[in-house]
Amino acid sequence: MDISVIENVLKKIRPTEEERAFVNGLMMELGEIAEETVEELGLEVKPYFVGSLAKDTYLAGDHDVDLFLAFPLETPPEELREKGLELGKAIAEKLDSHEVAYAEHPYVRASYKGVSVDLVPCYNVNSWRDVKTAVDRSILHTRWVNESIKGKNDEVRLLKRFLKGINTYGSEIYVRGFSGYLAEILVIKYGSFLDVLKKADFMLRQKIIDPENWLRKEPEIAMRTVKREVELDRPLIVLDPVDPRRNVAANLSWERYGVFYFNAMEFLEEPSTKFFFPEKAEAGDYLDELRRKGTHLVTLIFGKPDLIDDLLLPQLEKSARGLERALEREGFGVLGWNCGYSGDKAFIMLEVERVERPAVKIHPGPEFFTERGRDFYRKNERVWLRGKMLYAEKRVKENILDVISELLEKNQASLGKNLREAVKDADFLVDYVPSELEGEAYLFLSRKKEGLKV
Ligand code: CTP
Ligand code: MG
Repeated sequence: MDISVIENVLKKIRPTEEERAFVNGLMMELGEIAEETVEELGLEVKPYFVGSLAKDTYLAGDHDVDLFLAFPLETPPEELREKGLELGKAIAEKLDSHEVAYAEHPYVRASYKGVSVDLVPCYNVNSWRDVKTAVDRSILHTRWVNESIKGKNDEVRLLKRFLKGINTYGSEIYVRGFSGYLAEILVIKYGSFLDVLKKADFMLRQKIIDPENWLRKEPEIAMRTVKREVELDRPLIVLDPVDPRRNVAANLSWERYGVFYFNAMEFLEEPSTKFFFPEKAEAGDYLDELRRKGTHLVTLIFGKPDLIDDLLLPQLEKSARGLERALEREGFGVLGWNCGYSGDKAFIMLEVERVERPAVKIHPGPEFFTERGRDFYRKNERVWLRGKMLYAEKRVKENILDVISELLEKNQASLGKNLREAVKDADFLVDYVPSELEGEAYLFLSRKKEGLKV
């Protein structure tokens, strides 16, 4: 293995002494501000730093602070919500600026000295049995990683940067990749960045990773988790070292694992820094792609609803898939779809085999000697029999844009619930996109956007 590649990458992703000093100073300061504010408000709250800063697994230049405000377990949920937000705001008042963000519970996102600081209320849990909200485990994760990492922090940094470079990092619903915590567990389990890559195939076959032996310590609960996740056909089942009920890789999709799988293989064959820091994909001409393939591109452009990515992107995907299915039903072969937004405009792209279809469609009917058969006979013009079954020729719209309009009007395409109105008002474009979407159209049509083989 060519060590220089890894050394070169490490130089870029390992925080400098200067950055470390800044980060540590910042944490000290924030910790003091938090404790002082807790006292002022007369609360019984313990501030904890969690996330990659507290675990020393952050990448150079990427040091957002997660400061968790842990309330006693007896605190009723409503009180946690209220007092947590109040405390977060009171702390943030002493920082540079802030806003309230919404997850399962609202929290405060502040900014201090150019760094983003999340102030997240949670319960002060000591074991998985105490966990009440989705964020409570983070304190346990931080403790577990710090006890288990044994100096392999840079190996985690390499894996995280590799996963970012190949576009598989992040457990957000619209990425469905590897979370930072999953990267930490894999390095702890297999020993190093390279060892994790070497295990890309083995992990899939083994399927279950159980670093804390939950299957022995809590067989019933752990087996229930395994069964559930097997049924959901997850690529990996990683029993959370701090909670046997959770699969840390629950949000990892087969697609993102596949991209990791092939890139790991290629990196081991021919290591290069380009996996960690990819060059921007070469731009190409989407019109050349269409000519070469003999396919067509239909694009819907509409106003982007004011939603966070976590909500918007899954709904865009759902709408694109809904249109794909409806068009397939109508006899337009769909080769692929793509969606996203740019500025205040959202878009859905569909690559289709053709944009015109015949003016008639064969409409299969029921058996002729039934009530419905007689109805079908009366209602339709050109009718015939094959055996006992009725068929009719039905006039339909020929052009794909007319068909899409009709599908939308009659609600025959399943769309994301906050997008229905916007999509109905969409502009349709065929084999043409505005200049700001040309790059996107090329990446989509050339399949480079999938990122598997580039
Ligand atoms: N977390 C988790 N599962 C997820 C996302 C987050 O368990 N799918 C928890 C982990 O405890 C993690 C913490 O939330 O340590 C903070 O999340 P995040 O900022 O996404 O991860 P970091 O570990 O801080 O990594 P990064 O360097 O990307 O910020
Ligand atoms: Mg973080």
